[in-house]
Amino acid sequence: MGIVIEPLRSADDVDEILAVEHASFTSPWTREMYLAELRNPEVSFFFLARSGDTVVGFCSFWRVLDELHINNLAVIPGRRREGIGAALLERVLREGTERGADRATLEVRRSNADARRLYERFGFVVAGVRRGYYTNPPEDALVLWREELAHG
Ligand SMILES: CC(C)(COP(=O)(O)OP(=O)(O)OC[C@H]1O[C@@H](n2cnc3c(N)ncnc32)[C@H](O)[C@@H]1OP(=O)(O)O)[C@@H](O)C(=O)NCCC(=O)NCCS
Repeated sequence: MGIVIEPLRSADDVDEILAVEHASFTSPWTREMYLAELRNPEVSFFFLARSGDTVVGFCSFWRVLDELHINNLAVIPGRRREGIGAALLERVLREGTERGADRATLEVRRSNADARRLYERFGFVVAGVRRGYYTNPPEDALVLWREELAHG
């Protein structure tokens, strides 16, 4: 089935985002955290990947002045390596550019080779390390930046 990438339209979709979160992260965001984000639509954005009626992935980000902060990107385990993560990231970087961002940043676990390879393909480079940033299990975060978004 084809994948459609679209912005989150209603708080009703939060349950499906939470299902993707719980399948993907050891310390998932809570419903309250998501509902708080939805109350800040000037800054906080969500894009969903749908296959038919099912949410199979999502990406959330903040646009802060000329910066895009990617908070979460996840695809359900049964639909990985189909290009859905790349499609979400491409859409979010384009959306951020259209909204005035010129650089993008995110944190990723040092051991998360799959995600690091995806981000590398999109021109993200390691710019710093936050020691012990993650819990469950404890791990450093690599801080990645992608500059000059407008230049493809
Ligand atoms: C990271 C994640 C979002 C990637 O989603 P995806 O839909 O599987 O990614 P894609 O199919 O679009 O892959 C795009 C590219 O990323 C890289 N990549 C993704 N998964 C990979 C894997 N398991 N092994 C090696 N490379 C991988 C490859 O370069 C891949 O391109 P290719 O398939 O042409 O080789 C997904 O693995 C996921 O949800 N992981 C758990 C949550 C997570 O870690 N999120 C990132 C937090 S910062």
